[in-house]
Amino acid sequence: PVVIRDQAQEIIASIAEEIGQAVKQSETADKPLVLGLATGSTPVPLYRELIRRHREEGLSFKNVVTFNLDEYYPLSPDHPESYHRFMRDQLFDHIDIPKDQINIPSGTAKREEVHEACRAYEEKIASYGGLDIQILGIGRTGHIGFNEPGSGPRSKTRLVTLDRLTKVDAARDFHGEHNVPRYAVTMGVGTIMAAKRVILMAWGRSKATVLRDAIEAEPVESLPASFLQAHDNVCFFLDQAAASELT
Ligand code: F6R
Repeated sequence: PVVIRDQAQEIIASIAEEIGQAVKQSETADKPLVLGLATGSTPVPLYRELIRRHREEGLSFKNVVTFNLDEYYPLSPDHPESYHRFMRDQLFDHIDIPKDQINIPSGTAKREEVHEACRAYEEKIASYGGLDIQILGIGRTGHIGFNEPGSGPRSKTRLVTLDRLTKVDAARDFHGEHNVPRYAVTMGVGTIMAAKRVILMAWGRSKATVLRDAIEAEPVESLPASFLQAHDNVCFFLDQAAASELT
């Protein structure tokens, strides 16, 4: 399903509510809630709302385990543009999640150890019974995570080469395209598809064309987000501008 609202904030409230309910259900069931998380500008308002609920409404993340989608490679966790740093700044430093329940792909594994690290990341997700809820944004290339065009529907966590357009979009944050890492480690399309619930958010006109194709065209490897159409519990949450090219 596709949910379209005038204001992103209305959407954010309903997604935060869904996550809050899932947190409470897991507490009752006495098993951790396994959340897949995204970075980038899109989820920032959601993280702000989760922090608010933590501070003002007592929403606790002590029983939550998180797996981030991706990290640039190679990149130190202390680099200002690393997703490790982003997650600390935007969410983890402001909630009560225990540090050992946070998982983010490593951007510093030695080249010959990356493959094993990716396998271990998949295994760790599986050890918790898989992802309960996966939060996604979408790139202008149609990527989810850093699954660029050419990523197969069954792909797993792996090292990938970033698309030129993705590097152009990241250039401002890195003060020039030449500073953007060439590679990334990302969960695969198959990893994302195995999540029990998938929530994709998108705001703004710049995502409208890619969303039209992702939601309405035939699923193809040249637009990895289009594979989400086959997920039995996916929802695309869009503001009016992002939805402006849907038929
Ligand atoms: C980030 C990620 C990417 C972003 C996408 C959109 O972890 O996996 O797929 O969701 O590049 O980025 P923003 O939200 O900055 O437009």
